[in-house]
Amino acid sequence: MKMNYREITPEDVAAIFDVRIKTWHNPNGAEELERMGITYDSVRQMMMTTHRGWLGESGGAVVGFVMGNKQTGEMWVVAVLKEFENRGIGKSLMRLVEDWLVREGCGELFLTTDPDESFRAVGFYRHLGWEDWKMEDGDRFMKKRSEQVVADQKAARCESKAS
Ligand SMILES: CC(C)(COP(=O)(O)OP(=O)(O)OC[C@H]1O[C@@H](n2cnc3c(N)ncnc32)[C@H](O)[C@@H]1OP(=O)(O)O)[C@@H](O)C(=O)NCCC(=O)NCCS
Repeated sequence: MKMNYREITPEDVAAIFDVRIKTWHNPNGAEELERMGITYDSVRQMMMTTHRGWLGESGGAVVGFVMGNKQTGEMWVVAVLKEFENRGIGKSLMRLVEDWLVREGCGELFLTTDPDESFRAVGFYRHLGWEDWKMEDGDRFMKKRSEQVVADQKAARCESKAS
C-alpha cells in the first residue's frame, strides 16, 4: 500500500471531517462536533492562526490525519480509518505533529483522550512515549516532553538506517 503524507490545506477540511466522523466512538460524531463548535469554518480559522495538520492518503483518498496547536502545545486530534489501522499510519502522523510542535518551541506537549483504559488510543499514545498526567472534566490528559520527542526522532532515524 503506497501512502502519501502531506500538509492539510483548507480544501481538505471536508475530507478530514469525514475521517473524524467515521472514527468517532459512537454514531453521533457529526452532532457532537457541532455541539463543541467544531465546524468547517472554525477549523479553517484555526489553520490560519494556531493550528497545523498533516494527512495520509492512499489512492488519492484521505485515510488519516493529525492536527496540533502551536499556541498551547496540544496534539489536538489524530484519526485513522478502521480499515487502515495497524499499519503505522497513526505513528507517522504523530511524528509529523510532534516534530512541528517541538520546532515551534513547545517544551511540553499534551493531549486529551478517553478516560477508559480499554480505548485503543490510550495504549497507542503510551506506546509512543506519552505519559498519564491527570483526569479533569471527564477527560484523560497525557503529556510528552520535547526531549522525549527528540529522543524518539533519533531512534527512528537509527531504525530506518538499520533497515
Ligand atoms: C488511535 C489510532 C490513531 C492509532 O492509529 P494506527 O494507525 O492504527 O496506529 P499505528 O499502526 O501507527 O500504531 C503505532 C504503534 O502503536 C502500537 N499500538 C497501537 N495501538 C496500541 C494499543 N492500544 N496498545 C499498545 N500499543 C498500541 C502499534 O502496535 C504500533 O507499534 P509499533 O510501532 O511498535 O509497531 C487509530 O486507532 C484511530 O484513529 N482510532 C480512532 C480515533 C481515535 O480514537 N483517535 C484518538 C482520539 S483521542
